[in-house]
Amino acid sequence: MMTTRIVGTGAYVPEQIATNDDLARIVETNDEWIRSRTGIGERRIATTETNSYMAAQAAKQALDQAGIAPEDVDLILLATSSPDYCFPNGACEIQEQIGAVNAAGYDISAACTGFVFALNTAHAFIQAGIYRTALVIGSDVLSKLLDWTDRGTCVLFGDGAGAVVVQAADRGVIGVKMHSDGTKGGVLTCGARTNGNFLLGKKPELGYMTMDGQEVFKFAVKKVPEIIKELLEENRTSLEEIRYFVLHQANYRIIESVAKRLKADISKFPANMEHYGNTSGGSIPLLLDEMNRKGMLAPGDKIVLSGFGAGLTWGATLVEW
Ligand code: COA
Repeated sequence: MMTTRIVGTGAYVPEQIATNDDLARIVETNDEWIRSRTGIGERRIATTETNSYMAAQAAKQALDQAGIAPEDVDLILLATSSPDYCFPNGACEIQEQIGAVNAAGYDISAACTGFVFALNTAHAFIQAGIYRTALVIGSDVLSKLLDWTDRGTCVLFGDGAGAVVVQAADRGVIGVKMHSDGTKGGVLTCGARTNGNFLLGKKPELGYMTMDGQEVFKFAVKKVPEIIKELLEENRTSLEEIRYFVLHQANYRIIESVAKRLKADISKFPANMEHYGNTSGGSIPLLLDEMNRKGMLAPGDKIVLSGFGAGLTWGATLVEW
């Protein structure tokens, strides 16, 4: 049966590095606190780079690696919650920047789960026979949504993008799984511009990120193992068959806890948040590209991708490389 194969990966992070010590100069925090609670040592912060610029660089690399011309892309899905514009959508900006003239494109909003939801959506189009080749990109500039006076959130996030090219093939995605729980939406939010129309007689206000860290932590360590187990059971695959669990890079303690709950060896959970922090939609493809370029993935390897975040949303994809 036709499925969806990842045939190329790419990534881009902004030039500017901000270390934990740099943040200790703007809020009451320190390197030891941030490292021990999160595993984060530094992050990239966009200055000149826009969301679509980062996304387009990652997309170009992925296409190059796959040896696919931009004109051959049918669909561009951008997972983001920090686009450059309300409209046009980021996917249209990327289309223009890379010359993917034949592609339809739109954005998917599911915060840190966005990349997995977008990949699963591309898979649905490919499996239905509607499209053959898709670019799935995760790109976020959360630095513009952060309250830089709130030490509880501003130390956790960074900017970055990752991309994959997927194509119809006889092996690749084995199974997909997605969940949402809007009743818990309040634990991780970022308001959009508020209504400030003439009838209200006030100016619109900007939204900033708010988070109940402990609730998000509890959610992640419960729901991620659960969804991975569901996904593997439904696809008659054992935990032992999985070469790597490529999890959203929010926090190393979440990853350790998920590994423990799954009774899976921590060496199967690659991590790079030490250098990038939580890049939201960018994190999974950024890590996947790093693994791919290091030669960590061999044909036939089974890997699980899993994202979790605001919504609340969580999702997972079982892939044969
Ligand atoms: N530096 C120093 N101290 C900080 C701090 C910082 N950057 N941020 C918070 N603190 C303080 C708190 O104010 C609190 O002080 P208090 O006891 O005097 O009130 C203390 O540290 C403990 O805060 P708490 O929130 O209980 O810490 P925690 O152990 O739960 O760790 C997180 C906080 C955010 C690291 C943790 O909850 C977490 O990782 N949550 C998940 C967040 C996440 O990954 N979100 C994105 C998901 S997609």
